[in-house]
Amino acid sequence: MCGIIGYTGAGEACPILLRGLRYLEYRGYDSSGIAVFNGTNIEIIKKEGRISCLERALAEAEPKGTCGIGHTRWATHGKPSDCNAHPFVSYNSKFAVVHNGIIENYLEIKDCLLAGGAHFRSQTDSEVIAHLLESLFGGDIRKAILETLSRLKGSYALGILCADEPGKIYCVRKDNPLVIGLGDNGNYICSDIVSLQLFTDRAIVLDNCSVACVTAENVEIFGFNGEKKEFQIVGIERHGDADKLFESYMLKEIFEIPESMRSAASWYKYARPLERIDKEYLKNLRRIYFIGCGTALHSGLIGAWLVRRLMPGIDVHAVVASEFRYDNYEVDAGTLTVCVSQSGETADTLTCLRMVRAKGGKVLSVCNVKTSSIAHESDYLLNTSAGPEVAVASTKAYNCQNLLLALFAMDLAVARGAISEDRRKIYWEDIVQLPRKAEECLRLDKAILDFCIDNFRRKCVFYLGRGQDYYTAMECSLKLKEISYIHSEAYAAGELKHGTLALIEENVLVVAIATQEELIEKTVSSLEEVKARGAVIVTLTPFTGEKGLRAVSDALIPLPRTDEIFYSVLSVIPAQLMAYFIARAKGCDADKPRNLAKSVTVE
Ligand code: M6R
Repeated sequence: MCGIIGYTGAGEACPILLRGLRYLEYRGYDSSGIAVFNGTNIEIIKKEGRISCLERALAEAEPKGTCGIGHTRWATHGKPSDCNAHPFVSYNSKFAVVHNGIIENYLEIKDCLLAGGAHFRSQTDSEVIAHLLESLFGGDIRKAILETLSRLKGSYALGILCADEPGKIYCVRKDNPLVIGLGDNGNYICSDIVSLQLFTDRAIVLDNCSVACVTAENVEIFGFNGEKKEFQIVGIERHGDADKLFESYMLKEIFEIPESMRSAASWYKYARPLERIDKEYLKNLRRIYFIGCGTALHSGLIGAWLVRRLMPGIDVHAVVASEFRYDNYEVDAGTLTVCVSQSGETADTLTCLRMVRAKGGKVLSVCNVKTSSIAHESDYLLNTSAGPEVAVASTKAYNCQNLLLALFAMDLAVARGAISEDRRKIYWEDIVQLPRKAEECLRLDKAILDFCIDNFRRKCVFYLGRGQDYYTAMECSLKLKEISYIHSEAYAAGELKHGTLALIEENVLVVAIATQEELIEKTVSSLEEVKARGAVIVTLTPFTGEKGLRAVSDALIPLPRTDEIFYSVLSVIPAQLMAYFIARAKGCDADKPRNLAKSVTVE
């Protein structure tokens, strides 16, 4: 949801900004731009389209200077275009601003600025910040920034250059992420800590509601009240291939699933996260909410299913974050809220977390970025440990979230006396086998893949399942539609006949997921109903010998056997692969699907 980068130091800013933007492109890719102080004034170059468009423009006329800011945009207000791209410059060219977030009262501010003679060049909410700064500037930049912030409503991470203070970058964080990198050859600002590893191994995670003044040698941080704040320097974890650009991150990340699962299981084994939670509280828990958006919500649905499956007596709900925040869900001392988020920065999920904590409830987060806002503000953390996920479509993080939720449900069940220690030991025997079984799932038969690619070229695909397979179906369906733009729906297999069956006609593709042994016959009956209307059926199942399934399916994709509580970790893998190859066959960019961004930091 927009990426911000900034550099001030001894080196040329432009190549550094560009390198950072390439890595931040997953946060938005509608347009991008940079602003560099060239010794006399602030020079701005911005372009609609991918970073490669900006790169071409810079190759013709690269601004020279050692201090600059850059931005890659995911459009909220105003369509993708050169003039709606960031940075924005103020009317007398004193300030340049990049923004990630939403300014809710921008129309009101815009009216005042227009009345004062400001001229607007874009349709964005962000441009008001640059003009407001200039209009409130009376010689003291900090004063102008604090006065500007007091007038803004909404969420924002900002990078600000002022022509009067060459070599300085001001940055602001309110409800959107921002980190400062400390290098030997200069300092940086950036939307995420993972991208900073391109330049340095030390960072400051800016506190919410903070302003920083960053120079080549120094960082100073103060609150919105102007008071100086202390800060901590943290190390940045390095990931081997940080600077390497891959042809497809999604494919790379799917193939990293087995290794990520090993890391997640090993993190859980050594961190023993449930031992950090008060035993009495766990025993007396009456209610659990699983909250998330998109793929993370699907993982939450699996989490809720696991808790229902393993222990009675707890009221469990999985709720869409953007709904939870506007509803009256009860939170009390017997409630645990589990926030699932790969990025740890999703605005809706973060707001739910804050609401729950304000009501006195406890939050356990399942996060893949341990320096993120959600991880930081939670009472307890399950560290997904999947390694950085760059492709917009979440894959390996989902498998690891589900694995951690199964471990969490298992340990909770032991803590509450719902399952025995011996049972837990047997589960662990399954867990150590899972990465190898994930590797098996990655070996998708070429003939089946070709069959699927051919059949997926239809206008609509249905995914069906019962029990946990229904939630897996939801995730498979989301994967397909977000990267291939093929319309798809997921249905509880038994629900289809209550209306949606009307959409099944000759050659419609139906993908069935059937991992619940006791429900196989019921699933077969549902599949017979779609078969009778002409559907082509592909079934993912570990029970490939089942006569009914064999007879009704046009193709079977075998899954390895495991305990039922771990199937969701495996059964999604062939569907993740299929979605990728179908998108590729259609010529879609799987890593950067249209209209989307990786980290949704606006409501
Ligand atoms: O970072 P989060 O897990 O909180 O993100 C939630 C969703 O935005 C995310 O899962 C989204 O649905 C993905 N594009 C799905 O592939």
